[in-house]
Amino acid sequence: MINLKNFSFFSTLPTREVEKISKHCRIQQYTSGTKILIEKEEVKDLILIVEGQLSVLKNYGGEKKTLFNLDPGDVYGEVEILNGTKSLSTLIGYQELKLVFIPKEVYLRLIGLYQGFAKESRDLYTRRAGLLLEKTEDKGQPARVITFFNVKGGAGKSVISANVATMLARFWKRRVVLLDLNLAFGDQAILLGLNSDKNIHRLANKKSLKINQIEEQLTLHQPSGLKVLLPPSLPEQAETIKPELVERIIDLLKPHYDFIIIDTHNQLTDLELKVLDMSNLIMLVMTMELTFIKNTKILLDLFQRLKIPREKVKVVLNRAFKSLGLEPAKVEKSLRYAISYFIPSAGEIVVPSVNKGMPFVLSKGSDGSGVLASVRQLCASIAGESTDNGTWSMFALFKEVFGLG
Ligand SMILES: Nc1ncnc2c1ncn2[C@@H]1O[C@H](COP(=O)(O)OP(=O)(O)OP(=O)(O)O)[C@@H](O)[C@H]1O
Ligand SMILES: [Mg+2]
Repeated sequence: MINLKNFSFFSTLPTREVEKISKHCRIQQYTSGTKILIEKEEVKDLILIVEGQLSVLKNYGGEKKTLFNLDPGDVYGEVEILNGTKSLSTLIGYQELKLVFIPKEVYLRLIGLYQGFAKESRDLYTRRAGLLLEKTEDKGQPARVITFFNVKGGAGKSVISANVATMLARFWKRRVVLLDLNLAFGDQAILLGLNSDKNIHRLANKKSLKINQIEEQLTLHQPSGLKVLLPPSLPEQAETIKPELVERIIDLLKPHYDFIIIDTHNQLTDLELKVLDMSNLIMLVMTMELTFIKNTKILLDLFQRLKIPREKVKVVLNRAFKSLGLEPAKVEKSLRYAISYFIPSAGEIVVPSVNKGMPFVLSKGSDGSGVLASVRQLCASIAGESTDNGTWSMFALFKEVFGLG
């Protein structure tokens, strides 16, 4: 017997309801390669993946493309059921599968009865509907470039960018590429547990760079599907990477991805200026120390002089509430700028994840933690699913969520 309460999608439901569903659903096992659902076929059930992996394929003008993969704990069918359409994709298992089929009437009844469950469904629907309902593969929308920056080290740029990129790729099923532009001492290979000799230096001497040459140098982060452009393997090669090369790489990647996430070094050379200029969003990461406040303020003033639009720059306060004597409200006042995102200090979650080379957004140990919730909120706003309220109301919400008074 499978206890649905063990799967996060159903965790908000009361136990008696879960027991009731168990009576109405069927559990089935399949061998690898089985087609579970075919595009345009009627969707009668919500499918929960208990074991194995499935690919979600969609037909574009006679050619099948993989939209995303489903792993244990994922469900499929909410978009079709809520939209009242036939299947928008074909599901193929590429491992031995164990699936639970929940009749759509049972699923719809639960949505009507339980707000928490309805919210869970709506969130999932919003994440996937765009992809599944898209008529053509090319959305015509170039990638948004999001850069994590500050001129002082240790703010958490690398840790946050690694986790945001991983989460957008794994849970939002977006096409994400992460550029590690801390060219001499980049940390992304360690943070993501990547072992690869592919890197940006191999693109430095290409005459007329093409997208396929860049793709060849991207390293796949298997657990999430994120692709990473690692820095040169030797620090002395960093200076061979010129701003023009980075500009060309970003331009070539843009039509093929939803997000280009950039981790940077603590400096402001022509390379960083080029990247900041090309960014749709600049995440200025800081902690609650006076030195950070001073530098962040100088940067914000500089951005104003450089005519970087204010709405493009968001301040992220990392390790919030651990340093003594400074309050976020006072930080905002002295910066004269809203803090858009708060990431709590959580050494017990962040440090082991860094040492294991596994982003905490993928680790069970971070379930229910404030640091996970705050990264999720950051991703939701990047993915355009929630608008950040900016300043005071955000602070009030943060206090409410984390029980701080
Ligand atoms: N929210 C957090 N809670 C606890 N520890 C954190 C948090 N964020 C980051 N850290 C710790 O701070 C250290 C510095 O973070 P990180 O390497 O991401 O900073 P950075 O801005 O990239 O620094 P650099 O500029 O030197 O590359 C990490 O090793 C991590 O252990
Ligand atoms: Mg770093």
